[in-house]
Amino acid sequence: MELSKETYYVTTPIYYPSDKLHIGHAYTTVAADTIAKYKEMQGFDAMFLTGSDEHGQKIERKAEEAGQEPKKYVDEIVATFKNLWEKLGINYDYFIRTTEPRHEKVVQKIFKKLYEQGDIYKDKYEGWYCTPCEAFWTERQLEEEKGEKVCPDCNRPVEWVEEKSYFFKSSKYADRLLAHIKENPNFIQPESRKNEMISFIEQGLEDLSVSRTTFDWGVPVPIDEDHVIYVWIDALSNYITAIGYETDAENFNKYWPADLHLVGKDILRFHTIIWPTILMALDLELPEQVFGHGWLLSKTGKMSKSKGNVVDPIVLIEDFGVDAIRYYLLREIAFGADGAYSTEALIQRINSDLANDLGNLLNRTVSMVDKYFAGIIPEPVQEEELDLELKEFAASTISRIETEMDNLRYTVALEELWNFVRRTNKYIDQTTPWILARDENKKERLGTVLYNLLEALRIISVTLKPFFVETPIEMARQLAHIQEVKGADWQATSWGELESGRKVINGDPIFPRIDVEEYFEKVAARKDTKKEEGVNVKVTPIKDRVKFDDFMEMDLRVAEILAAEKIEGSNKLLKLQVDIGLEERQLVAGIAKHYQSEDIIGKKILIVANLEPATIFGVESNGMILAASDEEGNLTLSTVASEIANGSRVK
Ligand code: MSP
Repeated sequence: MELSKETYYVTTPIYYPSDKLHIGHAYTTVAADTIAKYKEMQGFDAMFLTGSDEHGQKIERKAEEAGQEPKKYVDEIVATFKNLWEKLGINYDYFIRTTEPRHEKVVQKIFKKLYEQGDIYKDKYEGWYCTPCEAFWTERQLEEEKGEKVCPDCNRPVEWVEEKSYFFKSSKYADRLLAHIKENPNFIQPESRKNEMISFIEQGLEDLSVSRTTFDWGVPVPIDEDHVIYVWIDALSNYITAIGYETDAENFNKYWPADLHLVGKDILRFHTIIWPTILMALDLELPEQVFGHGWLLSKTGKMSKSKGNVVDPIVLIEDFGVDAIRYYLLREIAFGADGAYSTEALIQRINSDLANDLGNLLNRTVSMVDKYFAGIIPEPVQEEELDLELKEFAASTISRIETEMDNLRYTVALEELWNFVRRTNKYIDQTTPWILARDENKKERLGTVLYNLLEALRIISVTLKPFFVETPIEMARQLAHIQEVKGADWQATSWGELESGRKVINGDPIFPRIDVEEYFEKVAARKDTKKEEGVNVKVTPIKDRVKFDDFMEMDLRVAEILAAEKIEGSNKLLKLQVDIGLEERQLVAGIAKHYQSEDIIGKKILIVANLEPATIFGVESNGMILAASDEEGNLTLSTVASEIANGSRVK
């Protein structure tokens, strides 16, 4: 019987399909992909999970804005995720979507189990809620910006919310969790973040609200149809539902507990406090490690769509190639720390490390084999002391890379590999093959030197396999070892596997140098062409068509603003009194950031007059004003072009 392999289960966060992903999301996924490929090469049965976190109010709202059903909306965005992962050479084993029936059913089972055993109970929640982060905050956790209460994570305004909710007794497990963290020093990494988490738990855990009644787009609470399961139980459970918890015991037992949950520092708390306490309540083992890496910042701070500073990885891949991007992400910023993304730094890396160090080494070596041996890989028959040193350098490099990779220090692992690349370049300068080539008696020595160079390159190509997608194969093609490198495991990083007698292929440089100025000129020209072609990517797509009769159901009227005042406690809302000819009305409008009360009195605007009344921030609103807004957040009221009576119908 074949012995079953040791498993290695690694996960990324499941990303929100509320928008396209940016380079920050690619960062986590590339790191996870690399470690999964590395472990697989080392002989583990690696299981790599990624996916999408599709429920919640934010997605529901986004879909509504786009005029689509939530499922249709997320389907389209999830397709862009998969496309990005394919372009980035991400080799996941399973892509979980939280809308898949298997996941939804098991999430309900989990909820029911916790409820039945008394770990979930019903109560009332009042608090400050951040819709984009889907998180409640206590008064003391909030921050203030320009007099407005904002979310401490994303700095966007929070809303006061009151609702009935189910709660999970995470506090019950706090002591056990603290003990676990202290007894398992590797459970939370990096070290600095672990201490943050410990002090957070030591301040005392509050029970966690795990259901909502304010939106529908979620997994229904199995025992109470007014509630949907709040996103964190739904989202975090993906790590177990994806591998068969409650549906495929054999597979589940094979991979659980996970070896590594890789997450950004923004969600480390959810993964090291909420998730472990849920697992404890389910009587399941905790993951071996949760690693919270730093943020990839843009020049203007954390990347976010609303700030308009996101970097699109697809554009970068098209401009520079997948391996340059993967190299940059893993090499430039120490894993764990924050770091700024910069295209200049990316180009600098491409030119120095990839084109100059690695590309030249391959090019020079293959060209010399072509020139001095008609492309045939020579035999290594005349070894010298210097060669042993190179071999030892190769072996010690590999073992250092192993240590670094086991600690997720990608940056250092690549630095080690590039020291070897540079050492091999130096070997060319030390052995001066072009001088050896002048002397017929030194042919064997020349052959040995070139063999060693090719072998060093083969080892480099194998070592690069977890990190890169195309380069190892292209290097192997030029080295005439494509099949071997394709199928190589980590063992193949040891010296001596290169076969003499094969014919190398002198190819194009693997990483052409990039001229920074030319590149930025090209980017500027591209923007101009887009403008000329009238491509305006910033306009929201048109909604599905509606029937004429349906439109005629809407009663739109001209209304004159008689009075306007700010609503206490809100920075966004104005209370308006308007005249619509037949009567006066009170409306609430979210325009306070764009208009001062005194500036709009007397304006004739358009309103929807037959909407159901609503209470917003405790104030009754009897209709809705019409205003135009763009994706940059600009807003302007709709008005009439010339004088017309109040209450005139708009059709
Ligand atoms: N859906 C939740 C996660 C649930 S996991 C059970 C979520 N999704 S997200 O789409 O907002 O993705 C957050 C993750 O994306 C971060 O934890 C991090 O891994 C990655 N990043 C997003 N922006 C990033 C940077 N600017 N820099 C680095 N990583 C970033 O939160």
